Amino acid sequence: MDARSCTDRRLRAVIDPGRCGWGVAGLAGFAGRERELSRLRAALGTGTRLLLVVGDAGVGKTRFAGEGTRRAAADGLLSVWGGCLPLAEKLPLLPVVDALGELSRLNGGRRLESALGAAPPYVRVEVERLLPQLRPGGMEASERRDERAAGWRRERLLSAVAELLEAAAQQSPVALVIEDVHWADSATLDCLTYLARGRATAGCGSWRPAAASRHPGRRT
Ligand SMILES: Nc1ncnc2c1ncn2[C@@H]1O[C@H](COP(=O)(O)OP(=O)(O)O)[C@@H](O)[C@H]1O
Ligand SMILES: [Mg+2]
Repeated sequence: MDARSCTDRRLRAVIDPGRCGWGVAGLAGFAGRERELSRLRAALGTGTRLLLVVGDAGVGKTRFAGEGTRRAAADGLLSVWGGCLPLAEKLPLLPVVDALGELSRLNGGRRLESALGAAPPYVRVEVERLLPQLRPGGMEASERRDERAAGWRRERLLSAVAELLEAAAQQSPVALVIEDVHWADSATLDCLTYLARGRATAGCGSWRPAAASRHPGRRT
């Protein structure tokens, strides 16, 4: 744990791959990082809700998260991934949509469908707003009018994402991995915070402090 690296008090654990040696990195195989991998495994095993992998560009955050979740998959962890981009105009929830899109493609859509079946009915409506491909016909005109009238019903949407992932986690534990959180939009940060309150889903993000301090949309 490196509390100094943690600029967001909501984060529960920080792993910094830049703090210790990592052996010889081969082109193909994963090298070193055993201590950090043990910490990651322990954090996931003890119910840590939110975890941040911190380090400079190229230090190995993505590779580490990939190896950690690959090993955790042997214990049944399902990880779904999404990445933030350095966009001039942010797209709300872009990485969350990507991760749910990954979930929607698993087992020919059956994993998502069974989670939706186990979740309260409003969750399907909200998830279809995020993943329009689930409903090829699109929204009815009346729904679009409601949409404009209601504006961005963010609380309901975040709640639906949390409910969906919790329902998916009834089958096996689920981790939402968000890459490059230093570029995240505020709705994605809110989503991670929201998920941290829940019981079933672990959020894992990679964070580059130097990029965050340069990013015009950063939150402190
Ligand atoms: N533990 C490791 N073993 C082998 N190669 C690694 C390891 N960590 C990182 N790499 C390699 O180093 C490069 C940069 O790693 P990456 O995870 O993309 O960095 P970051 O996400 O911190 O920018 C990649 O080619 C990756 O495969
Ligand atoms: Mg990376």
